[in-house]
Amino acid sequence: MEKLLVTGGSGFLGSHLCDRLIERGADVICVDNFFIGSKDNIRHLLGNPNFELMRHDVTFPLYVEVDRIFNLACPASPVHYQHDPIQTTKTSVHGAINMLGLAKRLKARILQASTSEVYGDPEVHPQVEGYWGRVNPIGIRSCYDEGKRCAETLFFDYHRQLGLEIKVMRIFNTYGPRMHPNDGRVVSNFIVQALRGEPITIFGDGTQSRSFCYVDDLIEGMLRLMDSPADFTGPVNIGNPGEFTMLELAEKIVQIVGGKASLQFMPLPQDDPRQRQPDISLAKSALGWEPKVALDDGLKETVAYFRKRLAA
Ligand SMILES: NC(=O)c1ccc[n+]([C@@H]2O[C@H](COP(=O)([O-])OP(=O)(O)OC[C@H]3O[C@@H](n4cnc5c(N)ncnc54)[C@H](O)[C@@H]3O)[C@@H](O)[C@H]2O)c1
Repeated sequence: MEKLLVTGGSGFLGSHLCDRLIERGADVICVDNFFIGSKDNIRHLLGNPNFELMRHDVTFPLYVEVDRIFNLACPASPVHYQHDPIQTTKTSVHGAINMLGLAKRLKARILQASTSEVYGDPEVHPQVEGYWGRVNPIGIRSCYDEGKRCAETLFFDYHRQLGLEIKVMRIFNTYGPRMHPNDGRVVSNFIVQALRGEPITIFGDGTQSRSFCYVDDLIEGMLRLMDSPADFTGPVNIGNPGEFTMLELAEKIVQIVGGKASLQFMPLPQDDPRQRQPDISLAKSALGWEPKVALDDGLKETVAYFRKRLAA
């Protein structure tokens, strides 16, 4: 039986990953410090003999025996990662060092959940993996962006210097059930505001665009990357290239939720990129992966989740 470690396993993506791994018949250790993640996300797995939950902070070393490591631990939304920016950098950098050290000792394959934020506010559109990015090293988002960039550097140095089997995945905006309702991410924000009958907050004029990947597609990409041949390290973009403006997204959500919602315009936050869209040619050719879930379908699932959660 495969023994797998998922750090950040009680978070949004981590909990969906644990579900898929348990379905595959793996033995899963889920590690989380519950800074953001919630036991509610993994409660249904707690009685499963193949699932083990450990409260642990990845900035400290961890000693477990596993075959593969998925390193997802890190606050992912600006509200959360800016709450304690020093801890955010520590989580990315010390967390990577600790998990890479563990992988080295165990000769285990290790996957890093990196981010499209490594491209910063890009001059290249859509973003290809060869693009080095345009990142502010001293801004309020830098704890996340530069922390993730440094983690990628560490992964590639452990690979070159010590021959570790690494997989680096650059995740673009992902949404779906179990997102945090108050994390300031645009999809959850808009849905929660629409369900509460509050005005929908649009930053800037709403013409900035984003691409949105449904969580099931994202996890499928992550599993394919982990299972890919040993010489394929990435980095590889995983996201949905369909591009929508904030105004289009708000319109879709209001339509699904039903009723009427007004829009409230606010100034753009610092270093907010204007456009973000993945080039997924590499994921298609190397992993045979592309997203399947249309935005309307994914939004319906997500709205249904938040409707239930807000009613509870
Ligand atoms: N969701 C997205 O759109 C997206 C986009 C790009 C990258 N990512 C990356 O994917 C990963 C998972 O993102 P998510 O959306 O599930 O976020 P999330 O915040 O829901 O999950 C992250 C989890 O990590 C845990 N965590 C934070 N610091 C920790 C620490 N020091 N030790 C142990 N656990 C810790 C949190 O408690 C949480 O459960 C993150 O690394 C994130 O940077 C996500």
